[in-house]
Amino acid sequence: MTIGIIGGGATGLLFSWYLSKQNPLKIFVRSYEQAEKINEKGITLYNGKESWTSTDNITASSSYRELENCRVILIMVKQYHLSGILPILSKLPTNIPLVFFQNGLGHLGEVKELPNENIFLGTIEHGCQRLDPCTVRHNGMGLTRIAPFKGDVSCLKGILKVYEDDFPFSFSDSWEEILHKKLIVNASINPLTAVLNVPNGSLVNNRYFKKMLHSILDEILPLFPEVDEKEMIQNVVGICESTKENRSSMLKDIEAGRKTEIDAIMGYCLMKGESLGHPMAFSRLVYEMVKGKEVEQGG
Ligand code: PAF
Repeated sequence: MTIGIIGGGATGLLFSWYLSKQNPLKIFVRSYEQAEKINEKGITLYNGKESWTSTDNITASSSYRELENCRVILIMVKQYHLSGILPILSKLPTNIPLVFFQNGLGHLGEVKELPNENIFLGTIEHGCQRLDPCTVRHNGMGLTRIAPFKGDVSCLKGILKVYEDDFPFSFSDSWEEILHKKLIVNASINPLTAVLNVPNGSLVNNRYFKKMLHSILDEILPLFPEVDEKEMIQNVVGICESTKENRSSMLKDIEAGRKTEIDAIMGYCLMKGESLGHPMAFSRLVYEMVKGKEVEQGG
């Protein structure tokens, strides 16, 4: 039975390449041209030195008709593209497990309304970049964390178990824990790197930028009291160090003139901060700088 992936960006291509090693894989993309290219050439994974093309198990489509034949569907589009997809997902057989991989938490109200029996939320720690419509560069292997939002995770564990040696998945009981931690990482690293136009490492190697990183963390961490502050700061600093050469996804969006995920990430934190009466002046300033950059680019 086929695994379905919705989204032809970097993560959609990366997961399609890996998951097609053990299962037939169908990737659903928005543009007909991208679907045609993938059907013709397959998907190529490049690690900076070598590349491998996978064709055998992969098909692509720009129509969502065949979603209903999938054994599980991974939804890998940006949060602001979900509104076009949720109505389609709501009409599928309700026993197909759905796994959502969006940043932020603003979409969860709508996801909760879906009639599907098994819904999971996930976060991705891989470093990857789409080079062209059928090529992805894999910059660093990471863990994919999944937790149940509704239903029973055992159906998913069975499907994804075959990948454990080569493309790791980890299952957690608490979706709040994995999503909150990812949100803190994204809210502290992405907007700052986008406005400062620097790779992640500069946020810990440049003492002025490091102070800014800590000012953001000081405002954001109190919003998530269940998260251990010290451990989380170490985690964020560690990610800046281990991905020091990488340009964050938000910086890449700005560079490519695309809409960013600032509303899903920092917009969500500001909303939460305001509702709790927490001061968020520094985070608001950075939020407005990213929004302003989008406007300058015609967004
Ligand atoms: O969004 C990103 O770019 C990544 O999640 C992270 C971890 C911030 C590293 O660049």
